[in-house]
Amino acid sequence: MAAGESMIPVGDVPTETTTVVRVESDDGTEELMLHRTDGTVHAWLNACQHFTHIPIDKGDGAVMRDGEFICQNHGAYFEAASGRCTFGPCEGAYLESVDVTVEDGTVYLTDERYVYIGPGPIERDPTDLGSTSNVEF
Ligand code: FES
Repeated sequence: MAAGESMIPVGDVPTETTTVVRVESDDGTEELMLHRTDGTVHAWLNACQHFTHIPIDKGDGAVMRDGEFICQNHGAYFEAASGRCTFGPCEGAYLESVDVTVEDGTVYLTDERYVYIGPGPIERDPTDLGSTSNVEF
């Protein structure tokens, strides 16, 4: 058995988009964005590096093109395998990587900064527009 917390079956991690799970950290409840490429599962905090309160996966899978995640707010591109922003307002920045491992068909959370809560996104109040502002001045 792998060290770490069992999260989801590796078959539930998509290759053409992402899926999110909820974790707890010192900063509260957060989302991880999981993606499978080249037989490996990568986990990133679901936070654009332009405005870190903006999720890249809005809850129904990140938009992807040619192996890169696209932030729909201002069009930043992030390499799915490295997390590096290749284009956009945060070019050169990296998504925050979270340690996971795959064993016996299951994805395990091995990053001690986080505790697994469950699959799916954090419920957001659709009437709370204050927390999604991304206006630039
Ligand atoms: S918030 Fe993602 S590119 Fe601006």
